[in-house]
Amino acid sequence: MNQSKKITILKIGIIGLGYWGVNLVRNFANLKDTELKMVVDSRPERKEALDKLCPAAIFSDTADELLNDPEIDAVVIATPVFTHYELAKRSLEMNKHVLIEKPMTSSTKQAEELIEIAQRKKKVLMVDHTFLYTGSVMKMKSLIMNGDIGKVKYFDSTRINLGLFQPDINVLWDLAPHDISILNYLIEERPYSVQATGVSHTHNGIENIAYITVNYESGFIAHFSCSWTSPVKIRMMLIGGEQKMIVFNDVEPTEKIKVYDTGYEYKTDEDKKRILVDYRTGDIYTPKLDMREALALMANDFVSAVRNGTTPLSDHVSGLEVIKILEASQESIKNKGREVIIKNSFQ
Ligand SMILES: NC(=O)c1ccc[n+]([C@@H]2O[C@H](COP(=O)([O-])OP(=O)(O)OC[C@H]3O[C@@H](n4cnc5c(N)ncnc54)[C@H](O)[C@@H]3O)[C@@H](O)[C@H]2O)c1
Repeated sequence: MNQSKKITILKIGIIGLGYWGVNLVRNFANLKDTELKMVVDSRPERKEALDKLCPAAIFSDTADELLNDPEIDAVVIATPVFTHYELAKRSLEMNKHVLIEKPMTSSTKQAEELIEIAQRKKKVLMVDHTFLYTGSVMKMKSLIMNGDIGKVKYFDSTRINLGLFQPDINVLWDLAPHDISILNYLIEERPYSVQATGVSHTHNGIENIAYITVNYESGFIAHFSCSWTSPVKIRMMLIGGEQKMIVFNDVEPTEKIKVYDTGYEYKTDEDKKRILVDYRTGDIYTPKLDMREALALMANDFVSAVRNGTTPLSDHVSGLEVIKILEASQESIKNKGREVIIKNSFQ
């Protein structure tokens, strides 16, 4: 991406100093050759938190002050999902590079419009899919790419806990973006359709439990289970290859990835009426993982994209592809699990 001016010290502004904004401030305040100039939150009482975290940054309770500051090169948006589109659009129109928290927007239409503006303005538009920068996901990617587990047949993810009921988005939009971004990163084939079901036990139309099945033409299949109403916290992903299978348990402090030398072979008997299955269970090994903070790597990836024109790992295409699956799943839930075809990927 062409940059219109050479940036010496990159000046950054963050909008939203809530739960996740605090982590972003900590990381962006510590980056080399960057200055966290301003942090905005519509709640004026958040100034106190900023003064403790990064006293050098200016606090404002209005995004206008940040957007009208010509010195600010890039904006990080960490507000609730329904505000992402408008804040990102205004930032791009004010010629600023933009990093949006996941999920990128509330609809594919909004995401596509932001991409069009970013391309026209020659600005970076990136989405924070933090998990792509974790040692666990990097390891799973290399195990798949190196052919260590063989052809991948399935992906099964569970992300459940006694979670905070969100007022504006359902459990899918809250929890599934992480796992969908991981799926799209690990698997090169793009999905064909989704089927999803869910339920709102609070009767306000906002589902607190949801299940998605993602279908692929090759026969590969992915499944997601999301809930805010589980008595235990489970963050588990199973990836089955023809040779080996991976278990990613993110609540484990260090041994998050285990690779099972487990598989099966089958043949059909002579009259083709029965299949005969041979199982194989071998060793289990625990690979060493890169334990650097994923959010710091993500922040560096954004800065590198702005400075050097590199394509970030979690770019706007990755953001849009997540929204497409979420939107199709939502449509399926509203139609009692009907299959919804995913439209072609954005190029
Ligand atoms: N990448 C991750 O792992 C991760 C983790 C948690 C949350 N998130 C994402 O971060 C975003 C924020 O989530 P959160 O949990 O921090 O929410 P939060 O409610 O804790 O914080 C949002 C903050 O934004 C402020 N705000 C809202 N509208 C504003 C506006 N128009 N201008 C200025 N400030 C405004 C609110 O006052 C609040 O302080 C969401 O998109 C969420 O999905 C990402």
